Amino acid sequence: MHENSSQVVRLEDYRPSDFLILQTRLTFRLAPDGATVRAELMFERRDGVEADTPLILDGDGLTLKRVELKGAGKMAYEASPDQLVLTGLPHEKHFQMLIETELDPDSNKALMGLYRSNGVYCTQCEPEGFRRITYFLDRPDILSTYHVRIEAPKATNPLLLSNGNRIANGTLDNSWHFAEWHDPHPKPSYLFALVAGDLGCLRDSFTTMSGREVELAIHVEHGKEKLGLYAMDALKRSMKWDEEEFGREYDLDIFNIVAVSDFNMGAMENKGLNIFNDKYVLADEATATDSDFANIEAIIAHEYFHNWTGNRITCRDWFQLCLKEGLTVYRDHEFCADQRSRGVKRISEVRALRALQFPEDQGPLAHPVRPRRYREINNFYTATIYEKGSEIVRMLRTILGAETFRAGMDLYFKRHDGQACTIEDFLKVFEDVSGRDLSQFSLWYNQSGTPNLALSESYAPGTLTLDIEQSISPTPAENHKRPMHIPLAFGLIGHDGKELDFLTAEGAVVENGLIHLQERHHRISLHGIKERPVLSLNRGFSAPVTLTIEQEPQDLIFLAGHDSDPFARWQAFHTLLSEALMAAYRLVLGGKQVEFQQDIVFLAGKIATDESLEPAYRALALTLPSETDIARDIGNDIDPDAIFNARNALAVQIAKANREAFSQTYAGLHDDAPFSPDADSAGRRALRNTMLGYLARLDDGLFLAQRHTKTATNMTDLIAGLGTLVHEYGATTQTQAALDDYAQRYATTPLALDKWFQVQATAPGPQALETISVLMKHPAFHIDNPNRVRALLGAFSTGNQTGFHRADGAAYAFFAQALLAIDKDNPQLSARLATAFRSWRALGPMRQEKARQALLVMVEASAVSVDLRDIVERTIG
Ligand code: ARG
Ligand code: ZN
Repeated sequence: MHENSSQVVRLEDYRPSDFLILQTRLTFRLAPDGATVRAELMFERRDGVEADTPLILDGDGLTLKRVELKGAGKMAYEASPDQLVLTGLPHEKHFQMLIETELDPDSNKALMGLYRSNGVYCTQCEPEGFRRITYFLDRPDILSTYHVRIEAPKATNPLLLSNGNRIANGTLDNSWHFAEWHDPHPKPSYLFALVAGDLGCLRDSFTTMSGREVELAIHVEHGKEKLGLYAMDALKRSMKWDEEEFGREYDLDIFNIVAVSDFNMGAMENKGLNIFNDKYVLADEATATDSDFANIEAIIAHEYFHNWTGNRITCRDWFQLCLKEGLTVYRDHEFCADQRSRGVKRISEVRALRALQFPEDQGPLAHPVRPRRYREINNFYTATIYEKGSEIVRMLRTILGAETFRAGMDLYFKRHDGQACTIEDFLKVFEDVSGRDLSQFSLWYNQSGTPNLALSESYAPGTLTLDIEQSISPTPAENHKRPMHIPLAFGLIGHDGKELDFLTAEGAVVENGLIHLQERHHRISLHGIKERPVLSLNRGFSAPVTLTIEQEPQDLIFLAGHDSDPFARWQAFHTLLSEALMAAYRLVLGGKQVEFQQDIVFLAGKIATDESLEPAYRALALTLPSETDIARDIGNDIDPDAIFNARNALAVQIAKANREAFSQTYAGLHDDAPFSPDADSAGRRALRNTMLGYLARLDDGLFLAQRHTKTATNMTDLIAGLGTLVHEYGATTQTQAALDDYAQRYATTPLALDKWFQVQATAPGPQALETISVLMKHPAFHIDNPNRVRALLGAFSTGNQTGFHRADGAAYAFFAQALLAIDKDNPQLSARLATAFRSWRALGPMRQEKARQALLVMVEASAVSVDLRDIVERTIG
């Protein structure tokens, strides 16, 4: 954020630090008028480093009160807010330094370092927040043990937490008190955490596989303890799962989770003290939707799993961020797949990857999963590093097989425990256990862009021949792409729906239902096939690629009804829908009447009523491609209004043609059983609400949506009803009444009001901009709270295509101003929101020009943060 962080950091410039910090003792005094931090650091000069080498410590906006060597020694120093340079140090290998800094947590609105959220002191140090607390070697390859003493007024801060185990506590003068914490596991500074405040607590315990008892605690606002029950349950299931699936046991006697209401991201895996955005902890049926419950389960698991993949084995430098994030996302995906329905989970993951990662990889912000350069590391907590990073781990398992993959993971934990590692270290364990050369595979980490596979098939009796060509379009700073190792899972299906056997001549390229594509072009012949097969491709989404293939609509319809692979089955129907929507889009642009093929329309009805399919699957199948999905399929010269109209026409036609089937399905899914957040119940609600979405487009739709909203007994149904009213019947008094009811009911529940903001922000059409500017003045809206901002401005810019991209460009201009306002306090948040412009070059020329003007307003504004500038400049290109 400050001058010194505006330089480009390059992977090739990595050098180990000249000094280590073996021990870190911190004393925090949290006074109402400011905090002081006393750091006692035990340094070690590395062997071979010249005795007169200066020690350069990182800072960010710090106020230095005192710095001195412990003992008799002398030295010289030069301090600025962003750096402390020490020279003339003692010649001994070890020396101790004392550094005192002064902080103002109350004015820290960047939510990095030590800040106060709703009266609770908390920290966020990843990636470079620790340097906002004290001068330090703030880099992940410096592992230190921490001893932390916290002193604070007792009345307002009865709770004093840090990492590890509590070793002392007691009272002090002036009704202050203290606690001391010791974390025996050496850790990088980004995993440091402190919490102080007055919170309620939900307690439980877990007995590990070796019989140790771990105390579990979730700290939340007083009175909200019960809202942590689901998170606690998810935590215990995560702990058990990691023991069973990866042999990983928890390594401290206590595990604390704290929920705070101002947080830039989802949560943070600080050792033994995870800090969460309260949105991902607090839930009950009245305030949280089924997807909130699912997110809580996934994020609780994610942060817990980091204890091994992230904390015990951390990253050497921030270029290796995917080492912990991609792997941990993979682990949380697998956990959720085991807890819920694997097929449904996989479809949801692919939808999210395509919605979030593909546009990144195909636009101006594309970067390799392991980047080679950055200006602001905070801008690299991306879908590419997280989600594509996870897909790479999944491909590794697909290529190596489950057993070899597990053996590799075991070796990884054994070989690298306690170290700060690289992607090379990670791949090496799999090379060692498998004897394979993974150098071509490593391109997945180093080459950006989404690979495309162009396929064609031809069948002569007995033999199917496939021609497959891989390519990647140029991405920023990468024009020439090398062929990758792409594992493409496939199957051949006969007319009775059964898998067909085949023989291969090529041998190695095809094995166990997998084609190993390693060349730019492959011709593959499959022999001994009894009849003309239908080809099922990229089963389970075995590789994160796009496919170009002409498949007969009849074949796709067949796959949509018969493929044994749930993902491929879903995909077949969605390929049909996408193609139909693209054709309809052209008709809308040409001012023509839109009419969809009857077979697709009726297939929707068949899917809705097919009792052999899980309700959650049916809901996903019947959720039409989103407007941004369609825009991606079209590619360029996008007109969001025409997309909206084409999609709407399809929804209406499906609803009209299937009124009977959908009404019956809707009615049949109603139940009076007590609420349960489990996957089956959630799936039933999802299907019922999907049916509502269609039925609401028919003539008595307003009545139905109103009744649905009024009779809802949980948040999932309530918000589905309200959303339908707002999006289909926005201008009616009935809708206004429902909105008012909701606002009144949840007046003191900010997380529930976020949904109210979001529903209105995503109401299609140009009038949404007016709604947004009115809602920004609502008393419950606070521009310095990231959850509020994301609910309103984030939802508007990414979830309202016709509103955000209104043709006059007014929304772009408004949004740019809002981002500049946010940027003053919270650059991470403004930079993140600015990525909404990343696909601007795909728009039609008029909108492109308006978007470019808004982007220019941001670069040309005075005092723009490095974070926002970095995103905007890369976006303009
Ligand atoms: N490591 C956290 C996670 O579990 C994300 C923290 C990132 N924080 C940030 N301010 N960039 O994914
Ligand atoms: Zn993570």
